[in-house]
Amino acid sequence: MGVVIGGLGTSHVPMIGRAIAANKQAEVPFAPFFASFGRVHAWLDEARPDVVIVFYNDHGLNFFLDNMPTFAIGVAHDYRNADEGWGPPEPRTFRGDAELAWHIVGSLMADEFDVATCQEMIFDHAGITALDLLFPADGAGHGDIPVATIPIMINGVLPPLPTPARCYKLGQAIGRAIRSFPGHRRVLLVGSGGLSHELGVSGKIYLDFDRLTLEKIEHDPQALTQFTNDEIVDLAGAQGLELMTWLAMRGAAAGGDIVTSIYHAPISHTGGAMMLIDTREGER
Ligand code: DHB
Ligand code: FE
Repeated sequence: MGVVIGGLGTSHVPMIGRAIAANKQAEVPFAPFFASFGRVHAWLDEARPDVVIVFYNDHGLNFFLDNMPTFAIGVAHDYRNADEGWGPPEPRTFRGDAELAWHIVGSLMADEFDVATCQEMIFDHAGITALDLLFPADGAGHGDIPVATIPIMINGVLPPLPTPARCYKLGQAIGRAIRSFPGHRRVLLVGSGGLSHELGVSGKIYLDFDRLTLEKIEHDPQALTQFTNDEIVDLAGAQGLELMTWLAMRGAAAGGDIVTSIYHAPISHTGGAMMLIDTREGER
């Protein structure tokens, strides 16, 4: 049986990945944000996920305007990173979980979610930054991630976009899919994005909406599904729509207790946030 052990939302500012590579985690403006992951690492040691499913928005690396699924899931045995405009990164491979991924696809189809399936997928910084934060490599090197990964892409760039309500329901359907998996898997869901940011302007962040988001993600995620996409853009900036990834995560990882969270802003142009929710029952 598949078990949802928790959900984690995090910002995925690329400067975070570059700070890790340059060993600058203790420097301004990152220090409090990185320090907050100490509690996450202790929790990972104890909760022992086998698979991390990462909801993220592709930024033009794998999907472009000519070919943009609304939702796409990786069903490959592995994934790799690629140059996103900052020079070729150190090549990395992320181990997939094709068996669980194909089970999720079948379950989603039966649940009336017609997702694109990707036998090849280049992994965008949005997913990789989250994994870097969860499983930091030793020193400057890039070690292997000690879990399998299933990337799930949500279109956040090319209208018409899925609504917040649809993303939340996708997450709920994925929660059902995990629980109906016949094999044994301990699954952590990650939503990688947000919170507020407006890259095209002057790095505006929207504190009030970010505070509301963190409160509602914890106590009443459904409330956030009442917003339209246009309202989110007005309240949280154009890239504030990355909140979709947190809603999908919370749809799949329902209930539970907050282990730790932080709001540290700005990091680069973004309201930097992290929240970890433990959904294990009867285990703690
Ligand atoms: C930044 C944030 C993002 O979410 C992203 O994808 C790229 C850059 C930033 O704040 O710099
Ligand atoms: Fe982004």
